[in-house]
Amino acid sequence: MSEKKVVFSGIQPTGTIHLGNYLGAVQGWVNRQDTKDNFFCVVDLHALTVPQEPDLLRQQTRELTALLIACGIDPDKSTLFIQSHVAAHAEACWLLNCVTPLGWLHRMTQYKDKAAKQESILTGLLDYPVLMTGDILLYDAHEVPVGDDQKQHVELARDIAIRFNNLYDSPFFVVPEVVIPPVAARVMGLNDPAVKMSKSHSHIRGHAVALLDEPKEILRSFKKAVTDNHNEIAFSADPERAGVNNLLGIYKAITGKPNDAVEADFANARGYGDLKVGVAELVIKTLAPIKARYEQLIADPAELDRILAQGAAQANAVAAAKVDAMKHLMGLVVPGGAHVASAE
Ligand code: TYM
Repeated sequence: MSEKKVVFSGIQPTGTIHLGNYLGAVQGWVNRQDTKDNFFCVVDLHALTVPQEPDLLRQQTRELTALLIACGIDPDKSTLFIQSHVAAHAEACWLLNCVTPLGWLHRMTQYKDKAAKQESILTGLLDYPVLMTGDILLYDAHEVPVGDDQKQHVELARDIAIRFNNLYDSPFFVVPEVVIPPVAARVMGLNDPAVKMSKSHSHIRGHAVALLDEPKEILRSFKKAVTDNHNEIAFSADPERAGVNNLLGIYKAITGKPNDAVEADFANARGYGDLKVGVAELVIKTLAPIKARYEQLIADPAELDRILAQGAAQANAVAAAKVDAMKHLMGLVVPGGAHVASAE
């Protein structure tokens, strides 16, 4: 067996993936490919927890897969797959539902926020973190690299893993660790630095930068970014100066420079206008090769299908055995399953 730590993470194929997703999650996934054993998943079942237009969901699922590859996820190094292609995810969710107290789900802040925006709340929305728990536990992931907003869900996955282990067989599941990036764990909206950059606000002009936005659109969004009237280009924890802090954080996450070097790069700036243009230009330069590679990939559906079939087969090889072992532990008869008892 490989000595490498196992990594699992996922992203929803809804709306357009934005700079927050890229800097908070995907960039970190790309950078850990050589040192870890990675599973990256386009979580289409999670997308169904709020109403979707079927044709659009299908299209966005394929587009997101192509975009992840364009960002640098290499399907020959990492297992990249669509969640619904591996039946064990839905099965694990059901099995884990049967060990998860309802009160644990009612406490999830993302559920409360999302539920407040829905007229009719679907059962799947409440159950969303259990599906996510199954995603992680099926692969015995040691590490789950996510943005700050997913931290509570990964902590729940830990609690469910511990509970399952205590009930059935310890240590059946690896108890996963959440990995939050040191910078850009919470990229804020450019139009409102008090709220997280999010797909659900992407319809608001100037809120998010989508990875496939045209350069002039990106420049326009940054130029309109909300700042303050202190006129000082420096990192700050002051909520009033969150806009400038966010711009510097984006610059820092892309360049990898320490704070003083980032501030030094803007020492000669004539004001916030120069800061906004400087960050916009860096983002445009970073996204240009991603966009070019994406255009190639999306024009070759057969190659995308091949990559997806390869990813599904690799993921299935791990997940199917684990879910069978879960079933066995929980008292189900696994077809042809005498071998399962020793599957772990
Ligand atoms: P999703 O699709 O909302 O977001 C994908 C990743 O992007 C991060 N992110 C951000 N990071 C920094 N700043 C932001 N403004 C920002 N917005 C989003 C998210 O934290 C996430 O890492 N439930 C998950 C998907 C999922 C998953 C999993 C993740 C399903 N199963 C198992 C890890 C492990 C979600 O909806 O992410």
